[in-house]
Amino acid sequence: MMCFDYRDEVLHAEGVPLSAIAADVGTPVYVYSKAAIRGRYRHFAEALGPDALVCFAVKANSNLAVLRVLAEAGAGFDIVSGGELVRVLRAGGAADKVVFSGVGKSAADIRLALEAGIFCFNVESEPELRRINALAGELGRVAPVALRVNPDVDPKTHPYISTGLSENKFGIPIERAPAVYRQAAALPHVRIRGIACHIGSQLLDLSPIGDAARRLVALLRTLQAEGISIHHLDLGGGVGIRYRDEEAPSPEDYARAVREALDGLDIPLVFELGRAVVGNAGVLLTQVEYLKIGEGKHFCVVDAAMNDLMRPALYNAYHEILPVRRRGGDSAVYDVVGPVCETGDFFARGRELAGVAAGDLLAVMSAGAYGFVMSGNYNTRPRVPEVLVDGSAYTVVRRRETLDDLLSLENTG
Ligand code: LLP
Repeated sequence: MMCFDYRDEVLHAEGVPLSAIAADVGTPVYVYSKAAIRGRYRHFAEALGPDALVCFAVKANSNLAVLRVLAEAGAGFDIVSGGELVRVLRAGGAADKVVFSGVGKSAADIRLALEAGIFCFNVESEPELRRINALAGELGRVAPVALRVNPDVDPKTHPYISTGLSENKFGIPIERAPAVYRQAAALPHVRIRGIACHIGSQLLDLSPIGDAARRLVALLRTLQAEGISIHHLDLGGGVGIRYRDEEAPSPEDYARAVREALDGLDIPLVFELGRAVVGNAGVLLTQVEYLKIGEGKHFCVVDAAMNDLMRPALYNAYHEILPVRRRGGDSAVYDVVGPVCETGDFFARGRELAGVAAGDLLAVMSAGAYGFVMSGNYNTRPRVPEVLVDGSAYTVVRRRETLDDLLSLENTG
């Protein structure tokens, strides 16, 4: 589904010209398409079948309105903090469809999740298992757990977003897993539910996911032979999207790769998809402040910066940059940069832009995942608003921060 496209040479989000949003709300601003979010979720849920629980990885985009769209569509949620759990519940998500991942779950966060009655804790270490058991005992509850195992497969993605190699901090080494399952089986306040893994993000090749799934199935068989029964497999997230010209796997490709790896095993499945659901459902809208024509280099200085969208600075990530008003004119090659005082503050390097002028609006595409959520206030820049488009209407679902918002948390000592 193409929810961002040109009509009469103006880039629209569904039925709304992005220029109208910029005029009303100002720039920079994140704009999301409700139809794109819902459409992608449904596409995955349908491809993966009725026995799958598709949990949205809240870390990818935690705006309450985005979570509400997904909750209404029936999604579960993958959280990594008590804060994300509170967001899910506030947005109308069901606690019994929540999985809780993360290597550093605090006691307070675990208590919150126990009280809410989540579907499953994905336990990442032996001390965490013991902590969950103790806290569940104090609260008079039994905690549903899966062990997140580290299957030691190479996901062939950017090293910063690869998580399933033995050198990464995530999960319990798969060779150790049977011993830890035995420990879990002996604990009075936990109940073993599943086996979980997550090997990395922005995966374009599905074979590592298949390899990981096969290793989980082998572990399941070992455990069953010991009388430890497993209710579900959680295969994590990580499905990649097209940022530029990548061949991203379709939901059907993904479902097929998983089915092949399971080789006829009939078991409920859980997925933790973030980027694949929202990545292409959002853009960061920005305005050109200046064109700075240098000796060897041209700079297109825009009003958004690395604090608003960190991906290019952090991972050297590629984001398409489109003019909101398409027009002819000579194209020139620019570094598209923000106002922050860092050389790493760029959105693109050596990018060809046609007929761009100061005052023009540009859309940084594919910014729906790991965009606003990773933003900050560096250089005392208030965080930008978020807008959700639905057909020909739109709503500001997070207002622009003011300087008063920022300063209100501080005092002069
Ligand atoms: N489950 C777990 C345990 C995770 O750690 C992650 C992402 C996901 C699910 C969702 O992965 P996804 O389906 O979105 O690939 N900031 C980076 C991405 C970091 C991913 C962290 N973990 C970026 O902007 O590329």
